[in-house]
Amino acid sequence: MSSSVLPGHPHIHHEGGHLHVEGVRLADLAAAHGTPLFVYSKAAMLAALGAYQRGFAGRKAKICYAMKANSSLGILQVFARAGCGFDIVSGGELERVLAAGGQPGDIIFSGVGKTRREMRRALEVSIACFNVESEAELDTLNAVAVEMGRTAPVSLRVNPDVDPKTHPYISTGLKGNKFGVAHDRALHAYRHAASLPGLRVVGIDCHIGSQITTTGPYLDAMDRVLDLVEAVEREGIPIHHIDFGGGLGITYNGEQPPAADALWQQILARLDARGHGHRALMIEPGRSLVGNAGLCLTEVLYLKPGTDKNFCIVDAAMNDLPRPAMYQAFHAIVPATPPQGASATYEVVGPVCESGDWIGHDRELAVRAGDLLAVLSAGAYCMSMASNYNTRGRAAEVLVDGDAAHLIRAREDAADQMRMERLLA
Ligand code: LLP
Repeated sequence: MSSSVLPGHPHIHHEGGHLHVEGVRLADLAAAHGTPLFVYSKAAMLAALGAYQRGFAGRKAKICYAMKANSSLGILQVFARAGCGFDIVSGGELERVLAAGGQPGDIIFSGVGKTRREMRRALEVSIACFNVESEAELDTLNAVAVEMGRTAPVSLRVNPDVDPKTHPYISTGLKGNKFGVAHDRALHAYRHAASLPGLRVVGIDCHIGSQITTTGPYLDAMDRVLDLVEAVEREGIPIHHIDFGGGLGITYNGEQPPAADALWQQILARLDARGHGHRALMIEPGRSLVGNAGLCLTEVLYLKPGTDKNFCIVDAAMNDLPRPAMYQAFHAIVPATPPQGASATYEVVGPVCESGDWIGHDRELAVRAGDLLAVLSAGAYCMSMASNYNTRGRAAEVLVDGDAAHLIRAREDAADQMRMERLLA
């Protein structure tokens, strides 16, 4: 039987026409758990993390997984056990990390709209740092901390005004974005933070965007951040750590982002050259740790030939895989069972009642109803963005570890979806 690794996906391979994640055949998982089904490779996650760990070898650095990319408990456990910290953006994410065994002292809290309740809970458990995004938020956090008799550790998220050259919805560090404190207001904001009794300035933070595939924007952002570090410290406000955010892209369709270790070698060289090599560092990678470790397994329901287009209707939809509809994103689609029938060009679409419910345009496939397809690069921003639109239950999830497959989330049924609702009297 022929065996071939998928290019760019060393933990996924075809064997006799059957797709495998590590040692597990996907058709067996579909038979056991149904479809659509998210399948993740633990080895791929740890390999992605390993590239960052190599990049930071010998440095004082904390890798805080940006759990918005995939917040399932089993995924969080893998990263917690591997020594990661976590970047959270809501009280819900905080509870998830704690439930997965994450340590509060390894948690940093980002986001433009933290509520008082969320601040209180984060202070109660003593998280490592609040990444504050506005002067108004500084005042609110100070008030909450004083009320509780606590001091909140803060970083200011500064907006370096660097173009990451990515999709407009996922660039965050430009002047017109809602994120961060403008570069020219930052010094003022730091003075203000340092004057408030409930706050302790510990660092500086930035995040310029997501799915970044070139090194230049990172180096530019690092320079802008270091200019500020120097200016803030001249004011007598010490900056303990630099949090450089996340954003490194992955290969969806031939993109060639730098490897994490190579990227960080260059950024660290810049840091050293400017005399900041001694500083503690933090980063918040999300997509690059999980994106290519996951796929979505889906069954072909119907083939529908058309005059203009042929449709391949599958059982996964925009509620499971929202990125094509939201960002016109490309995900590769490959057969998971031996190809059958004649090859044709298809629009791969889901069952949701919207024309925007597409998964792939113009895909060459040899399929029949009942075959399985795998939508690749689906480990990040798929399950965590899934919805119940059309009252579709969210998919199940399996984590593969060698020859073992662990169900980490059961399929949601209609009763699960209606649990919070009440009928009128
Ligand atoms: N830190 C902060 C403050 C962020 O806003 C983000 C992502 C990250 C870290 C992680 O960035 P990453 O390493 O994953 O690029 N749903 C979109 C991506 C939204 C990213 C939002 N912020 C997508 O599917 O492409």
